Amino acid sequence: MKFHVMTLFPEMVEQAFHNSIMKRAVEQGLISLETVNIRDYTLDKHGKVDDYPYGGGAGMLMQAQPVYDCYQAVARGLKEKTRVIYLSPKGRVFHQELAKELAAEEELVFLCGHYEGVDQRVLDEIVTDEISIGDYVLTGGEIAAVVVMDAVARLVPGVLSNEASASEESHEGHLLEYPQYSRPEVWRDKQVPEVLLSGHHENIRKWRREQSVIATARQRPDLLEAADLSEEEKKLAKQYILC
Ligand code: ADE
Repeated sequence: MKFHVMTLFPEMVEQAFHNSIMKRAVEQGLISLETVNIRDYTLDKHGKVDDYPYGGGAGMLMQAQPVYDCYQAVARGLKEKTRVIYLSPKGRVFHQELAKELAAEEELVFLCGHYEGVDQRVLDEIVTDEISIGDYVLTGGEIAAVVVMDAVARLVPGVLSNEASASEESHEGHLLEYPQYSRPEVWRDKQVPEVLLSGHHENIRKWRREQSVIATARQRPDLLEAADLSEEEKKLAKQYILC
């Protein structure tokens, strides 16, 4: 998976690939990152990339020209249908299914806005997907791009050392993950649930499934509608939604 990021702040994006799983994935050649500084493409002799919005209003807008020329430079090495993602609080809200869809692509281009946004004409020209990471406003798109790339990268085969860990986690099957415990068996008088020590795989699987249903009912009942629950599980969920 190749990520190309158009930004005014390349270091903000690059630092996210310098640690832990992302770093290892780059070293193994499973993912790669190219950042391109939009400012390098301005024709303004003072390096300006923003201007006032027509019609008035607060703040400045990123101008179309530097963004478009930056994209043209990035696009030279890309397949024609490569998706171009603009991070914005106006976009459709990012979720795990979209992460899976994007992980199936070979390359992705991200456009990070700053100031009060980007001239709509260049967005109309180059963007295929407008994505928000949630209903709040950030100072720029970089952190949002990093969030999306992180979620996508870990779904690329080989990036997680244990493949099973991506299939049993939160948001699989529209349920949240069950609680997990490690050693010691007792910590501050709190005992690890007995069933997990039993070695009985079927009972453990059942317990975990129940715990997933309960956690989802408590924390995110909105997810349950799309989850595939048995009649018994639906009854169990109801008990926890109400309290
Ligand atoms: N840029 C500013 N706020 C954002 C958000 N919530 N999601 C994606 N990009 C953004």
